[in-house]
Amino acid sequence: MAGFSLLFNENCAVCHGENLKGAAQGPALIGKPLINGDDMDSLVASISKGNSAKGMPAWSGILSKLQINNLALYIAERRSGLTYTDFNIDNTLLINQDPIQTQHHTIKLQTVITDLDPLPFSIEPLPDGRILLTEKMRGLSIISKDGKQSALIKGTPKVYSDTGTPDVGLLNGLGWLLDVAIHPDYLNNGWVYLHYGDRCSDCNKVSRENKLPVSMNKIVRGRINNGQWIDQQVIWQASLEHYGMIPDTAAGGRLSFDQQGHLFFSVGLKGNDNHTGVQDLTTPWGKIHRVNDDGSIPEDNPFTKSPKALKSIWAYGFRSPQGLEFNTRTNELWVTDMGPRGGDEVNLIFPGKNYGWPLYSKGVNYDSTPVEYGKKLGIDFKMADIEQPIVDLTPSPAVSSFIIYQDKHFPKWNNHLIVGSLKARKLYRMKIEDGVLIENEVLIENLARIRDIEIANSGEILLLLEHGSGGQILKITSTSY
Ligand code: HEC
Repeated sequence: MAGFSLLFNENCAVCHGENLKGAAQGPALIGKPLINGDDMDSLVASISKGNSAKGMPAWSGILSKLQINNLALYIAERRSGLTYTDFNIDNTLLINQDPIQTQHHTIKLQTVITDLDPLPFSIEPLPDGRILLTEKMRGLSIISKDGKQSALIKGTPKVYSDTGTPDVGLLNGLGWLLDVAIHPDYLNNGWVYLHYGDRCSDCNKVSRENKLPVSMNKIVRGRINNGQWIDQQVIWQASLEHYGMIPDTAAGGRLSFDQQGHLFFSVGLKGNDNHTGVQDLTTPWGKIHRVNDDGSIPEDNPFTKSPKALKSIWAYGFRSPQGLEFNTRTNELWVTDMGPRGGDEVNLIFPGKNYGWPLYSKGVNYDSTPVEYGKKLGIDFKMADIEQPIVDLTPSPAVSSFIIYQDKHFPKWNNHLIVGSLKARKLYRMKIEDGVLIENEVLIENLARIRDIEIANSGEILLLLEHGSGGQILKITSTSY
């Protein structure tokens, strides 16, 4: 923050006040709507062009593009109350019991269960109305229809509650249970898929040199029978040389099936530093992958003919893909990807395409320098070769998981994205048509970190919340249904 506020205080505070609340010569920039708009593009334009008639200098010749971008981001962050250092895991958690009037539906929140582990990761409704739940540091359990949590299912892959590595902070870890998903034909075959951080010690060069454990995403399937995990099969596993020390916080870790039984999964920035290897098709991280339901490689995957590429890769150039959803109506794959400081994205995924990390981002690094690792890594690229996001979210709400709504309970939300966020503690509704964001509504504010979202069998929406006092599952219902 220091760099940003200094730049503002030196150049702008004389007229707008150090607190952005205005001064004799200039208006407040927070606490009221802005005349010329407050999204990033509008702010950059206001600052660059100025308004000399009204006493606002044009800064384009005076400050660099990057400085102007950073000032715009500073104003946007201050306006939204979002700073990149807040995790907001311990804010007072008050579930609004009153009906909430949104643009298309009046909704109500109901509590399904409280007192879960503070860091749950995934919910998956079962056809009989129960819900599968993963808690990152504990394991897999089942929530009954009347909101009771079962004992942990025995025999699932081992997960760890210690951070593995010193000094990585409380919210990080190595060897976590991530997503759970059921097979599209679950009623007949009973397959449950688990995505987790597979942790080992003394198992590759990095772990031996550092005398620390390493981990990498891994996917298995199995069946649940009388509280036991049985019939386990490995669906996807990286080579041991690719296991690294970056915490599972960045693992992505989502799963999504299409109607043909292909399994898509997201692997975020694992490996051993934040940038290297994401653009390299021989490494598994920073990628969306696609396999058949038994783990074999579909023949029409985009890189099956590239000799050195990992054949499971479907698309690449991701940073922290926390949400992944296949729209079975439109046959489109969507992903949410968390940027560093700004640059959170909602992306429509095309096979074989490059989504840009760490060559380019609309956000900047945490220290306010631009994202341009292409130079450092010696990677030459054209902007035209990078797929741009359908939705750019700057400043970053820390976009998490989402659903593409399809059911009768909220008829006016059909095909809309219902998108969660972590630090912003907001639930968004996004209507996208022909690749353009038409409506972006905040449905719920001041809630808690929303880690996962699912559509219940009833058509109601389930939210999985992280919180210091214990995780929770909420149900969103429509009062008019
Ligand atoms: C000499 C005084 C002065 C300085 C210095 C100044 N501004 Fe302004 N600024 C103004 C005035 C006056 C307006 C209102 C212009 C108008 O009414 O259209 C304004 C408008 C703006 C707006 C648009 C507000 C809206 O409602 O759309 C932004 C954004 C802004 N300033 C940012 C900055 C930034 C960033 C800096 C520092 C790089 C800066 N200003 C420096 C006087 C100043």
